Amino acid sequence: MTPWKPTLWVAGGTLSLLALSLAAVTQAAEPERDYQKPLPPAPPGEATFQPPLERDIPDNQYGDMVRLGRDIFINTQQLRGRYVFNDQNCSNCHLDAGRLADSAPMWASFGMYPAYRGKNDRVNTMAERIQGCFTYSMNGKPPAAGSEPLVAMQTYLHWMATGAPINQAMPGRGYPDLPEPEKAYDPARGAEVYAQNCAVCHGADGAGQQVGDRQVFPPLWGDGAYNWGAGMHRVSTAAAFIKANMPLGQPNSLSNQQAWDVAAYINSHERPQDPRRRTMESLEATVETFHQHGGYYGRPFNGQTLGDHANYGQDERPATPDA
Ligand code: HEC
Ligand code: HEC
Repeated sequence: MTPWKPTLWVAGGTLSLLALSLAAVTQAAEPERDYQKPLPPAPPGEATFQPPLERDIPDNQYGDMVRLGRDIFINTQQLRGRYVFNDQNCSNCHLDAGRLADSAPMWASFGMYPAYRGKNDRVNTMAERIQGCFTYSMNGKPPAAGSEPLVAMQTYLHWMATGAPINQAMPGRGYPDLPEPEKAYDPARGAEVYAQNCAVCHGADGAGQQVGDRQVFPPLWGDGAYNWGAGMHRVSTAAAFIKANMPLGQPNSLSNQQAWDVAAYINSHERPQDPRRRTMESLEATVETFHQHGGYYGRPFNGQTLGDHANYGQDERPATPDA
């Protein structure tokens, strides 16, 4: 990971201070839309759906596209510099190449689109939903609908959903609903959970671990991580993912409270700017419009205002459409 860029940070801070007074005038109204609604909870019950086996991918042109999509899904870094600007692969958050129940599996997702998404306030096709994870989770630039990488991923998801119902939520979709913690979540308690259960793989500095140029454990904050607009930056979403999936190989071993606390710890660290910030005149306006959900973006923390910087990640690129 390249070090955080403190000069940009200062520049961003100054800019947003200038914009503050303007924002107070123009952004006083209540947000009309909910831009950060998480996935609805999956129906209760055991996930019994079995996606087809990889060895059964057909040996024809369709199968070639499925294989390409799978390859991109687990090694999304091959698109780095074009469509991906952080250290993530899709399979970092959608485990077992998108097959694992309770880690937002792709077989439970495919039949649920087109769907209305509050995040961009319109009906999204599957292609647009995938593009959304490129913009935020991969801190990247979405491949165009109809382009080979996008068609390949759609084909992979389509194949994985063979036999799944259309427009009917399945058990195992998304992450299991996690009850609110008994005590308000606390990043300081979360730091202890992290040191004991997570740092061994994700690093004390949250940068993950590389072997050669291969990222073996993904970063959880800093330049290489998901950005401030990604679903995972919500404390509730990260807590639900962590409870069901982390530490890797020991799902559901943390208490609910520990999952919330460690999610708060991770998500109170700096990460690339929310790309929607480019279209807003100030940090405050971005918070007001997109961040009314108890996350840390735009909130004061340890003497800093989180997200108050102009670091959009490692690569400079034009603004991406909100997909
Ligand atoms: C940093 C973690 C992360 C990465 C990396 C990531 N995603 Fe996601 N993805 C999520 C989260 C979190 C959600 C659920 C969002 C919500 O609750 O709003 C999600 C949801 C989805 C959904 C919709 C699931 C459903 O059931 O509706 C699809 C499809 C998807 N991601 C595809 C991808 C693809 C393709 C990639 C790689 C290009 C990718 N994701 C990379 C975190 C990630
Ligand atoms: C044994 C190593 C290991 C431990 C311990 C571990 N993780 Fe992970 N974690 C991983 C790996 C590997 C992935 C990516 C999954 C994949 O690619 O299959 C991951 C993915 C994640 C992600 C997805 C987000 C992203 O940006 O990629 C989060 C969040 C996360 N871990 C949090 C935690 C937390 C919190 C703990 C401690 C409670 C923890 N992990 C413990 C190995 C580990």
